[in-house]
Amino acid sequence: MVQMLAGRGVQTSDDWIVERTGIRARHFADDGVMSSDLATLAARQALQAAGREAGDIDLIIVATSTPDMVFPSTACIVQQKLGIHGCPAFDVQAVCSGFVYALTVADSMIRTGAASRALVIGAEIFSRILDFDDRTTCVLFGDGAGAVVLEASDQPGLLATELHADGRHVGILCVPGSVSGGKVMGDPLLKMDGQAVFKLAVGVLDSVARSVLSKAGRVEADIDWLIPHQANIRIMHGTARKLKLPLDKLVVTVDEHGNTSAASVPLALDAAVRAGRIRKGDTVLLEGVGGGFTWGAALLDL
Ligand code: UT7
Repeated sequence: MVQMLAGRGVQTSDDWIVERTGIRARHFADDGVMSSDLATLAARQALQAAGREAGDIDLIIVATSTPDMVFPSTACIVQQKLGIHGCPAFDVQAVCSGFVYALTVADSMIRTGAASRALVIGAEIFSRILDFDDRTTCVLFGDGAGAVVLEASDQPGLLATELHADGRHVGILCVPGSVSGGKVMGDPLLKMDGQAVFKLAVGVLDSVARSVLSKAGRVEADIDWLIPHQANIRIMHGTARKLKLPLDKLVVTVDEHGNTSAASVPLALDAAVRAGRIRKGDTVLLEGVGGGFTWGAALLDL
């Protein structure tokens, strides 16, 4: 992995990036490393942390907007790399809300009995869809993967989830290219109207937090840890302030990873659990927001 601190050949500075976003470092995958490689690594670590074997898994969902191929899904490639066969495996494409979407789908499938133990993974290699001549985006995103094992239990873990999308905003964060006739048609690099995304994100992260708390019969003060999508420290602080949460309840990894899209929430969760900050019994609010426009939240008792 290579750590990058600024764009290549664009007019920018560490001071601007740190002050406007909170990003101090990020990681780019080496050439030839694919999202499925990062996803498989994260899956193995999640299985180890959960004390489970790959063979115990009967559902794999990978949240990604940077799949290895157009098809098959990255989840099928991960299944093959884990050496397990037969269980359902599919990708969820909800950009930076992808992990919360995938978690919600896995939770629903477990509740209906369609699965009993799921690997839910967020994995991205955004470095390959960045325009390094566009300083407004190329300094923001990084690569990474995070994963959790979700299983059926008598004790409620996921208390409530909520998902939203508003396709009127498709154009404010997108990679508009496509593949046709053996060629890439249109622009295959990321475009973002940062201010439009910023304004929408601030509003929806607050409203979906309140809504998911109310669904679960909980209040803001019940939240031990807030893990919002790690895109911009100013958005994250704003969300915590609106929920009247002290900033020490906010898990921040955007400084170390940049914006890793669908990987950002599970990476932050993993970092906080491994650091011994989040403990068993804690109530955690996960929030995603991103291209689509999509957003969602999941409230859980660990
Ligand atoms: O992952 C999905 C969710 N994504 C997000 O949540 C991202 C949301 N948006 C943001 O985080 C912020 O809007 C950005 C970090 C993308 C931009 O920050 P901003 O404070 O909204 O900056 P801005 O777009 O208002 O630009 C301010 C100035 C402009 O210069 P002028 O017009 O004032 O002269 C930009 O050209 O900063 C300039 N600028 C830069 N300067 C140095 C933009 N990018 C850079 C840069 N380095 N990399």
